[in-house]
Amino acid sequence: MEIGQLLSSRTRYMSASEIRELLRWATVDVISFGGGMPDPSTFPVEDIAKIVSYVLEAYPHKALQYGPTEGIYELRQEIAKFSETRGIKAQAENIIITVGSQEALELLGRVFINPGDVVITENPTYLAALQAWRVYEPRLVGIPMDENGMAVEILEERVKQLKAEGARIKFIYTIPTAQNPTGLTMSQDRRKYLLEVAERYDLLVVEDDPYSYFLFEPIQVSPIKALDKTDRVIYLSTASKIFAPGLRLGWVIASEEVVRWFNLAKQSLNLNTSNLVQYIFLEGLRRNVVLKNLPNVRDLYKRKRDAMLAALETYMPHGVSWTRPSGGMFIWVTAPPQIDTKELLKVAVTQYKVAFVPGHGFFVDQSVRNAMRLNFTYPTFEQINEGIRRLALALRGA
Ligand SMILES: Cc1ncc(COP(=O)(O)O)c(C=O)c1O
Repeated sequence: MEIGQLLSSRTRYMSASEIRELLRWATVDVISFGGGMPDPSTFPVEDIAKIVSYVLEAYPHKALQYGPTEGIYELRQEIAKFSETRGIKAQAENIIITVGSQEALELLGRVFINPGDVVITENPTYLAALQAWRVYEPRLVGIPMDENGMAVEILEERVKQLKAEGARIKFIYTIPTAQNPTGLTMSQDRRKYLLEVAERYDLLVVEDDPYSYFLFEPIQVSPIKALDKTDRVIYLSTASKIFAPGLRLGWVIASEEVVRWFNLAKQSLNLNTSNLVQYIFLEGLRRNVVLKNLPNVRDLYKRKRDAMLAALETYMPHGVSWTRPSGGMFIWVTAPPQIDTKELLKVAVTQYKVAFVPGHGFFVDQSVRNAMRLNFTYPTFEQINEGIRRLALALRGA
């Protein structure tokens, strides 16, 4: 049977596989800076084991049953409380529980994007957000960044132009804190300015925030959602980096109207996020496991970031530059302009036994070819040093 002839036109945008294919060659002796995985030693395994037995004893019938699409009420209340410590005021009714933030990105596409609609993002931005939305055929508009995050003055200019052209701008997507892929954090002034632009032009803002829980430097920033007085920020966060990504649990905080639409869009995707998982995270919050665990996560990742920065300093040839992330999981490396990091990856994996994610896919037009993203949280300290040494050799040989 010729499956290719049966595929929907949508599948032509489903192009995630190239890098995954490459990384599949990665045998055990390949050091990978590729994925965005937490260090497994940060998972609160003992606490989760106790919580799972408790949940199955205390409310097995609820935990193993179907549940409401928006998520169990007690968890939504608990997340509202948790968010208040971060300056975000929300009621349970403003919250929907998702299968990781990745599902929230998909819901954004389903609910908001028609072909040709404009979605504005940082450039570069989170690759899997772009992948989720490409299926809906938006016009992606990228705004450059500097060390203070998205260049909001340029954003305002672009918005003005787009409005003058009669474009339908659906939302501005930002990862303001410890951004994926650059690790950079938007200054507080820019956050306020971004919100002013959104208010002036009556735009929605999507704030994706998996990383602000573990900043390595004492940077004074608040979530943009905490500054939002006009209910225009759709805030996404997740248990993935502060508890365990295997649970696949995230949440959205937004106006009740947006939550209602997300609820409808989620029904046909998966009916509800696993109840068992929701009860596990609920207990994790109630028992303070998340907040108790955070200082260890922050300390370990800061040391790993520093180890990678030191190795880059030691081994990288002249002409290679990189960001100094204020948090999160990634360092963004820029190679000399003649280097195509997709090509480099083939050689790096097969000859030098080191892997990374080429930068192309993080750009809205895939135009920049000499950048790469390195993850520093998953590899061991030894692998960080050895992997960067190998990567430097690959770059010298390129
Ligand atoms: C910016 C950003 N958004 C969303 C996600 C998806 O996270 P999850 O689906 O595990 O919550 C990630 C994961 O790395 C991310 O970096």
